[in-house]
Amino acid sequence: MDTRLLRLEAACFELLLERRDPAQPLWRQFGARSAAPLDAWPQGDARPTPPNALDVDPALTILPTHGLGWFHQPALAGARCGDRLGSGRDWCQDFRLVDVEADARHWRFTLEDPVARLRVRQHWQLDPGGDVVTTHVELENLGTEDFRVDWLAAACVPLPVHAEQVIGFAGRWSLEFQQHRETLGIATWRRDCRRGRNGHQAFPAVLVGSVLADDEGPAWGAHLAWSGNHTLLIEPLADGRRMLQLGEWLAPGEVVLRPGERHRTPDALLAFSDQGLNGLAAGFHRHMRTQILHWPAGQPMTPRPVHLNTWEAVYFRHDLAALKDLAAAAAEVGVERFVLDDGWFHRRNDDHTSLGDWWPDAAKYPHGLGPLIEHVHALGMQFGLWVEPEMISPDSELFRAHPDWALEMAGRDRVLGRHQLVLDLARPEVADHLFVRLDTLLRAHRIDYLKWDMNRDLATAAEGADHRGPAAYRRSLLALYGLIDRLRAAHPALEIESCSSGGARADAGILRRTHRVWTSDCNDALTRIAIQSGALRLLPPEVLGAHIGPAVSHTTGRRHSLAFRAAVALFGHLGIEADVRELDPAARAELRRWVELHKRWRSVLHGGVLRQGRLPGLAWVQATALDGRRALLAIYRVAEDLGRHMPTLPLRGLADQVRYQVRAVHLPAVPHGREVAPLLTALAGAGLELDGATLAALGPPLPPLPPESAVVIEIIAADGATQARAIALE
Ligand code: GLA
Repeated sequence: MDTRLLRLEAACFELLLERRDPAQPLWRQFGARSAAPLDAWPQGDARPTPPNALDVDPALTILPTHGLGWFHQPALAGARCGDRLGSGRDWCQDFRLVDVEADARHWRFTLEDPVARLRVRQHWQLDPGGDVVTTHVELENLGTEDFRVDWLAAACVPLPVHAEQVIGFAGRWSLEFQQHRETLGIATWRRDCRRGRNGHQAFPAVLVGSVLADDEGPAWGAHLAWSGNHTLLIEPLADGRRMLQLGEWLAPGEVVLRPGERHRTPDALLAFSDQGLNGLAAGFHRHMRTQILHWPAGQPMTPRPVHLNTWEAVYFRHDLAALKDLAAAAAEVGVERFVLDDGWFHRRNDDHTSLGDWWPDAAKYPHGLGPLIEHVHALGMQFGLWVEPEMISPDSELFRAHPDWALEMAGRDRVLGRHQLVLDLARPEVADHLFVRLDTLLRAHRIDYLKWDMNRDLATAAEGADHRGPAAYRRSLLALYGLIDRLRAAHPALEIESCSSGGARADAGILRRTHRVWTSDCNDALTRIAIQSGALRLLPPEVLGAHIGPAVSHTTGRRHSLAFRAAVALFGHLGIEADVRELDPAARAELRRWVELHKRWRSVLHGGVLRQGRLPGLAWVQATALDGRRALLAIYRVAEDLGRHMPTLPLRGLADQVRYQVRAVHLPAVPHGREVAPLLTALAGAGLELDGATLAALGPPLPPLPPESAVVIEIIAADGATQARAIALE
């Protein structure tokens, strides 16, 4: 073994460093395991000096900094700002390695710069499954003057020459998680989020590869476990490689370290797969399941209850009798958790008022929430309640009592969003007040679930009574995390959903303390396919709220069949976002069959391997049990296509020798004038028996799909197919 090497050995990749103590370790590899001898490609001090370069031409280390020949983005940027003598000094740093702890699963480096009087600790940890490396960095001020931190990367890692394709996530309200593919060039690729929450526009993750195919080729992924401001950047290096950095975006002066103080970055999650985007997603999903999600009372995840969320059924029109009817209708179609959305609290009849006044509206609920909650429980369902604790309406009792609790900068114009302001959560009395209000609700009633919403960007988040002090985005977010942690400790059985006008706060940071995200306010099935596809790159399906909306989408106005809406929602944490009372008996029965189908498959959907992909005009998603004996496949027509025949869709994850019963549980109506091939009649009827090798080569026969329709196919090992009774949906 070469003692100069430090190697973190993941299941299908490695991180490799070359030691040069006391100089910093040099990056050698982040990617596929390599057997190449270390000296094959000199990357550090042994590189020939190029003409017209400094004598020192530093290669990429674990903590590159500015001022001594490194001209790329530094991993740390900052300077002294204490008194007039110290101010501006120590912007040039040079860290040396003073201590290393390393084995095959973890690294801990201590680096010091005695001139700038700074210490950095880096932690790198491979998860037990060998899927994801988690890293964070801590900076300590060893000096006697304050040190202002402008940037501290949570991770700074190399990408190889051929990794020139990137997927970043972009979006807007009702169109989150859009995958934006670009070819990396000479300029730095960079995405900043300064909204105080992830926002619809951003998601703190990036995927890189040479081709970024569904199932083949190398793919790298990085995800910042942080729900606020962030920066992701990829910069080309002089040796053709690229450097990936990610970390928290800091407002000017937001982090100033007093002597002896420390600043810790959020965690960065890093992974690689040689099996394309689906291989990468499988690793992230396993990591989320085993390391990030914390289910109530430390128990394993229970089957995800099917929701009914009242928002699109009644909006602000809360009427106890109607809600009781809605709950009864929901229970009848198989709903297991009834979530009472916005509109239940003091004088909340539209979105102009009342945020902060977290007690039941006396006119709508004269006897409080008790009667509805008891009714819901009596129907055998859990009860969930919508809250938006971080917010305050200027027209609210809370604002009248504590106008100074709102984050408004003295002397500046008020910045409203959805008619509301944000509370200064970093003030302990504000966080305490919110804890007491929520705790009171949770003690008064059996509330199993909170839908925790957050419906606006933070404009100014600043410290001080007049909120003119240093920026406080970071402190606000840490206070939010603290509040949720405190509430969960006091109510260990509680589950929480992170909603933010849909999916504007969905990341590994918030999912360490919550159990579900509301993926998007858009329930239009066509748009949802793209939204869920993006979210599934990093997040497992069981945390992605996916609801069957009304026939006409409230955000796009598009009309879709129940089957198409259900076939899309099936692949997340299923719910219904519609007024079930309005459905005729046939539609209710059809809805119930879809809910039953989801329940029958949810252990596979929420614990198996999820793959997805695109074919011309089509999108597909496949959930396969870990033992390869069961799979559920949906194929959606997302655009018209010139092909006269359906393409083949070879399937992965099944066993070649096993014979499978392959049966369509839903086939769309055959377009006018088309004949149904006998094979398809069989697929829709008793099913076909095919072996795994055939499915791996050709996939199942596929029916023609009219626009915005889906086929859903069950694939079950034939010797188990009889027990797993197939459900006829038509
Ligand atoms: C946000 C959420 C919706 C709903 C409304 C209620 O937009 O994303 O699901 O809860 O607020 O006001």
